[in-house]
Formats: sequence, C-alpha cells, structure tokens
Amino acid sequence: MATNTQRVNIWDAPVRVTHWSLALIVPAMWFTADNSMWYWHTRLGHVLLALLIFRVFWGFMGTDTARFGSFVRGPRSVLSYLRGDGDAPRAIGHSPLGALAVIGLLSVIGAQVVMGLFAGDPFDGATGPLNGMVGVATADWITETHEWFVYVVAGMIALHLAAITVYVGVKKQSLIAPMIAGKGPVSDGVAGNSNASWSRFLICAAGAIGVAVWVWFGAPPMAS
Ligand code: HEM
Ligand code: HEM
Repeated sequence: MATNTQRVNIWDAPVRVTHWSLALIVPAMWFTADNSMWYWHTRLGHVLLALLIFRVFWGFMGTDTARFGSFVRGPRSVLSYLRGDGDAPRAIGHSPLGALAVIGLLSVIGAQVVMGLFAGDPFDGATGPLNGMVGVATADWITETHEWFVYVVAGMIALHLAAITVYVGVKKQSLIAPMIAGKGPVSDGVAGNSNASWSRFLICAAGAIGVAVWVWFGAPPMAS
C-alpha cells in the first residue's frame, strides 16, 4: 500500500496569498457595508477586484495546480469521482468536485464585485465607479440585488467550509496545512507542483492591477 512519506509542493505562493486575502477581504466587505464604511467598502472592493482578476489570469499562466485546464473536469468525471469508481483522483491539487467549488466561489464573489461597481445612488450615498454608465432605475435594481446576493456569497462560503470540515474530520485529509505552507504529504512516487515563474507572475499581477486601477477611474475609453 502507498504511504504518505514524502512532502511535495502543492499550492504556489500566489494561490495561497490570493486565497487568504479573499478569506479576509470578503467578510470585511460585509462588515464595511453593514457599518456604512463606504470609503473602505469601495477601496477594499477594488483590491478584491484585482485579486479575482489575478486569480483568473493565474488560472491560465500559473503552476500546474493553479491552472484551470489542469483541474476543471466535465460532469462525468465529477460523477465518477463522487461514486469513487472513476479515474483516480489527481494526486495533488483540486479534486473534480473541489474544482466545481473553486469555480462556484470565484464566480459568485466575482458577480458580487461586478454588481458593486455599478451599485449605489448618485443622489444619495456611495456609488461604485461605473454607476454613471447605467440609468438610475437599473442602478437601483443592481444595488438591491447586490444587497441580497451577499447571502448567496455567504452560502457558498459556508458550503466551502463544511466541505473542508468533512474532508479534514471524516476523510482525515490534511487540506488546510498545504493551503498555508504550500507543501503537503503525498503517496510515494507522486510528483510535486511545477515551479512558479516570476515573469508570468509579474504579467498577471500588472494586468490585474492595471484593470482594477482603470475601473477605479470609471473605465475611461483607451483611445483619445
Ligand atoms: C471568505 C472565506 C473564503 C473564501 C472566499 C475562500 C475561497 C477559496 C477559493 C476560491 C479556493 C480555491 C483556491 C484556488 O485554487 O485559487 C479555496 C480553496 C481552499 N480553501 Fe478557501 N476560502 C475561504 C475560507 C477558507 C478557510 C477559513 C479555510 C480553512 C480553514 C479555507 C481552506 C481552503 C482549502 C484547504 C482550500 C483547498 C481545497 C483543496 O484542496 O482543493 N478556506 N478557497
Ligand atoms: C464580495 C464583495 C462585496 C460584498 C460582500 C458587498 C456587500 C454589500 C452589502 C451587504 C451592501 C448593502 C449594504 C446596505 O445598504 O445595507 C452593499 C452595498 C454597496 N456596495 Fe458592496 N459588496 C461587495 C463588493 C462591492 C464592490 C466591489 C463595490 C464597488 C467598488 C461595492 C459597492 C457598493 C455600493 C456603492 C453599495 C451601496 C451603498 C449605498 O447603499 O449607499 N460593493 N455591499
């Protein structure tokens, strides 16, 4: 029987830093909204926007376990993974089911952030930087949706935490330590993650920050 005697790299530093930043900033977004701290809500919102864009870019240019192409699978793989009779699960990285959770979390948080960019009322209170691009009635509708959609975001996070508790508590898989330190125990003979490239990281980071800053200024036309 295979034993978990070796420790290899599983998650690269950009995935881990993005993850723990999301875990701090998403609850902070709720807190700042509940306490009408709009100065911080919109500023942190742009940090969140940059992090999400970075994670999407990194999903195409990052290391093996970060790349969508290496972990997102079709419904058949997810079903056979659930039945336990399909392809062997990937030795390191997200399982086919975990991949669905990643896409679900990123999409739901992404939708909330995009709505926030258009939210608010220009005659009363805070507005997102793209509020002026839509009419007042549309902005009202987006703001109302943004207000209740926070429960969808919270629901996804609750599912995420429940799934991790099941894996750690019932299946005895050590998931949390690798998301903190990067390395984790794997079966003998399993190869670790590929190395992150600085140049690719800088391209993804510069692109993400560039888009977030452009949005902050109201997404002005690029050509003069
Ligand atoms: C607001 C809170 C949180 C959000 C929005 C969130 C979001 C995410 C996302 C998007 C991923 C995919 C990682 C990637 O490939 O980029 C992920 C993975 C993961 N998260 Fe979280 N997370 C949150 C809180 C937590 C907490 C509190 C823990 C631990 C106690 C945790 C543990 C993990 C672990 C272990 C994985 C990797 C799962 C795997 O092995 O496939 N997360 N999370
Ligand atoms: C995960 C991300 C986010 C969460 C959880 C969130 C949460 C919320 C909540 C709960 C409200 C309703 C507050 C209330 O009136 O009771 C709100 C309002 C609002 N949010 Fe967000 N938000 C997020 C992202 C953003 C972003 C990225 C922006 C813009 C940069 C933004 C801009 C606004 C604006 C302008 C309002 C309306 C303010 C008003 O009523 O005067 N939000 N948000």
